[in-house]
Amino acid sequence: YDYDLLVVGSANADLVIGVERRPTAGETVLGSDLVVHPGGKGANQSVAAARLGARTALLARVGDDAHGRLLLDSQRAAGVDTAGVLVGGAPTGVALITVDPSGDNSIVVSPGANGRLTPEDVRAAASLVRASRVVSAQLEIPLETVVETVRTLAPGSRFVLNPSPPRPLPAEVLAACDPLIVNEHEARVVLGDGAGPEPEDWATALLALGPRSVVVTLGARGALVADAHGAVRVPSVRVETVDTTGAGDSFTAALAWRLGRGEPLSAAAAYAARVGAVAVTRPGAQESFPTAEEVESL
Ligand code: RIB
Ligand code: NA
Repeated sequence: YDYDLLVVGSANADLVIGVERRPTAGETVLGSDLVVHPGGKGANQSVAAARLGARTALLARVGDDAHGRLLLDSQRAAGVDTAGVLVGGAPTGVALITVDPSGDNSIVVSPGANGRLTPEDVRAAASLVRASRVVSAQLEIPLETVVETVRTLAPGSRFVLNPSPPRPLPAEVLAACDPLIVNEHEARVVLGDGAGPEPEDWATALLALGPRSVVVTLGARGALVADAHGAVRVPSVRVETVDTTGAGDSFTAALAWRLGRGEPLSAAAAYAARVGAVAVTRPGAQESFPTAEEVESL
């Protein structure tokens, strides 16, 4: 394989305003100065993996505009191969983000060019997909593009999906996931009415839908990893939270990379939890992702 990880996904300009609290309908609140960060769940994952030392490529679409150039620059600065980043067709995706004093965020995404990343684009990049040991995707791009990605995988390569923002998934995609990575909200949407009360219930029910493995992320409570051998809790690392934006993306990227190196699921998840822990201690998404050395010294 030429790449440890190929990320098929979104690239957004993150327009971030710090707020004391979020406005309700009809209300206006004043916030901090605007900061524009490179973001998007796909672009975040590829930067996170490359910064850890993985040979990483991104298959995505940005607009022919300043936001698109910001995103390409941040990918290249992190060492991501951007030959698969297509330009044009719509404005670059934008995420409007408010961050509150506890470090929690709310996000509205305008997909823009991400919505124009088509199954045809995946077919045209088939050699890139087949040259990758692990391929990961999220759902800020069309679902049919994710379906085509699954159909294009090399035999023996591994597929990782974070279904965010969540929606019900076709059996073909679920069966390819190893693992499917969800938080509580995503688990509930993927499961529909079938979700029980505990993370162990969600993991069991999700596995029954076809993935070879499942990771349920539980924020400060760590994560639960589950496969045919059983379920194991992975503790979180206690840190001072500044901004959680993108921390989940760095978790997924780190997990995908370590699994590709042959690590067992629980060990890969424990490493990924440390990567995510560093990310929440710093502002922004991509700028907050650690190098391997920073993870070791945590
Ligand atoms: O997961 C965090 C990301 O979600 C942000 O970077 C934003 O672009 C949205 O896609
Ligand atoms: Na962060």
